Amino acid sequence: MEHLDVLENRLKICGFDVAELAEKYGTPLYIYNLDRIVENYELLKSSFENEGINVKIHYAMKANSNPEILKELRKLESCLDCVSPNEVKLAIKCGFKSKDILFTGTSVSDEDLKILTEEEILINVDSLSQIKRLAKINPKRKEISIRINPQIGAGIHEHTITAGKYVKFGIPEENVIEAAKLANGFGFKIKGIHEHIGSGWLGNDVKNFLTTANKLIEIYKKISSFLGYELEFIDFGGGPGIPYRENDEEFPIKQYSAGISEIVRKEDINADVFIEPGRFIVGDAGILVCKINTVEDKYVPIIGVDAGFNCLIRPAFYGAYHRIILCENVESKNTKDYLIAGNLCESGDVFNENREILRKLPIAEEGQHIALLDAGAYGFTMASNYNLRTKPAEIIIKERNIKLVRRKENLEDMLTTLEEKL
Ligand code: LLP
Repeated sequence: MEHLDVLENRLKICGFDVAELAEKYGTPLYIYNLDRIVENYELLKSSFENEGINVKIHYAMKANSNPEILKELRKLESCLDCVSPNEVKLAIKCGFKSKDILFTGTSVSDEDLKILTEEEILINVDSLSQIKRLAKINPKRKEISIRINPQIGAGIHEHTITAGKYVKFGIPEENVIEAAKLANGFGFKIKGIHEHIGSGWLGNDVKNFLTTANKLIEIYKKISSFLGYELEFIDFGGGPGIPYRENDEEFPIKQYSAGISEIVRKEDINADVFIEPGRFIVGDAGILVCKINTVEDKYVPIIGVDAGFNCLIRPAFYGAYHRIILCENVESKNTKDYLIAGNLCESGDVFNENREILRKLPIAEEGQHIALLDAGAYGFTMASNYNLRTKPAEIIIKERNIKLVRRKENLEDMLTTLEEKL
């Protein structure tokens, strides 16, 4: 379990007992291991360095925008991929400079474009409409980059595939020259070209990704020759997956970095190489801990916990698999197959990847805790207040120091936007 350990049959994170942390800080509780995040970042960075490429990592903060994580990545000189003005504003509060941020939004409003222009953020446009509206809003018409849809997508679930015909993102590859002409006509300098084909790919999908990377280079050459100057960067987006299941393979990091490097070198490209990983950096560094409220055999054995899909939506929304560990009794051979149910009023509110696929766990008792592993990416950032349930607290562990970064919400927090106090 990588950075997690089992000692005397109890789950530990960075040497701390997970159930004790849960009792101390309250549940549901997200725990992040910051050292692991740094390791993941450096692993990726160095795999490109080994290929002779100084890749610029734009961490996709939609995966996890906890300020302590952002500040730590800032220290490592990470740049950012942002998708909303509020992400940009938080990034700036955490010390990022405008020049280190690339904004890749979709269905972007004029109001969004105004804010981004004021903050001097480079906008990666994904429609001709955005180019036209930006030209009106930003009369100085400085710089943009262009997101293309290279038709081939990849991802862990159909909702996370972001290229192809029935996908809203990016400018279709056949319209890219038209987009470049339009932008050029308005006087924009086109700084770069971008793709993000989808999220959470492993194995064979890396080949699909490399096919699109080749396409991106072809488009880069076409646009550069049309404009008469070389673009400054090529952004291959994010997407590297992590092994969620016990027998999933690791992400083939060498194949990925060597593949990109080879394509860039073959074509003698001088542009900077950008990537935008989110999940790969934070995914395996976080766990969600919940307390067991109920253990009961109904038609099937059910464990009821004090969190629901308002805390971690991935299983309910994507049928995503997360390993589940009984914190106080990790390794017992005395097991049972359970439905791990949340506390929301929906039948789909379970942490099994499918309600009909029960999860084998050691015999559980009320008052014990479970940990959902690999919950560092798209966990808290997708949390909600459904059923007026509060969002979890978040703690960070760094070099064996624990910091409570965000306390658990309460009802008052949820009512702050009401015009009239109750
Ligand atoms: N760049 C862009 C433009 C993106 O839209 C995304 C993710 C990324 C980078 C980072 O992708 P990553 O390296 O994390 O795969 N909620 C889903 C994932 C949605 C990803 C959305 N865009 C999940 O929980 O699996």
